[in-house]
Amino acid sequence: MARRTKVYEGKAKILYEGPEPGTLVQYFKDDATAFNAKKKEIIEGKGVLNNRLSEFFMVGLNNIGIPTHFLKRLNMREQLISSCEIIPLEVIVRNFAAGTLCERLGLEEGRQLSRPLVEYCYKDDSLGDPLVSEEHIAAFGWASHQEMDEILSLALRVNDFLSGIFYGVGIRLVDFKIEIGRVFESDFQRLVIADEISPDSCRLWDIDSGEKLDKDVFRRDLGNLTDAYSEVAMRLGVIQPSNSKVAEPRLVK
Ligand code: CDP
Repeated sequence: MARRTKVYEGKAKILYEGPEPGTLVQYFKDDATAFNAKKKEIIEGKGVLNNRLSEFFMVGLNNIGIPTHFLKRLNMREQLISSCEIIPLEVIVRNFAAGTLCERLGLEEGRQLSRPLVEYCYKDDSLGDPLVSEEHIAAFGWASHQEMDEILSLALRVNDFLSGIFYGVGIRLVDFKIEIGRVFESDFQRLVIADEISPDSCRLWDIDSGEKLDKDVFRRDLGNLTDAYSEVAMRLGVIQPSNSKVAEPRLVK
């Protein structure tokens, strides 16, 4: 088999050169990391679930006219994507207080916010992805004013789309992170949702019980992470419930 050219390896994914110019293959690893990679573990099956879940959300976004980098799923762990220039920002949308927002402002976890809150962090692991303002983004030229208007509108549209989908299966979308890329097509440039959308990058709580169904299960040692992600995938119809009660083979006389 021909060796592929690795373009980039991150904490949870690897990017390879794609079959056509302007494409890449995105491979989902089983590695789980938290607290800026201070906590690490291999969680069997996580990559397969995130590949399927990210496909599900990206296809849905493409279908309602929100452009993404997703082209097609190739196999259990890989998807074909458009290559893009990633804007060095983590765009976080919050509907309920959790995580670093609670730490920063002393809020009680789970408090509903009066409106969705959009925050930007500068994407740099060595700095711990610090929170930045639009002033920083403009001053350092990470994105133009026009791009920031578009990013805000995309982030809020993605939030409405995801919140509705999760609400329909009894899950509260507490917060999530997206990354945005620039795709160049001849003289034109457009923004797309890039990276992944999965329980690794969202906070998801069961609406009735409050049970956590996202990466906090790993961060806080709350149980089995693949069970939580499988539950999300099953509720969304992305995977079928496995029939664990397969009948024992019987001797037929
Ligand atoms: O997740 P953490 O408490 O470190 O930070 P946060 O600012 O509360 O995260 C808000 C949301 O963005 C959560 O759903 C995180 O899972 C997600 N996030 C992410 O996917 N990647 C990051 N580097 C930071 C946050």
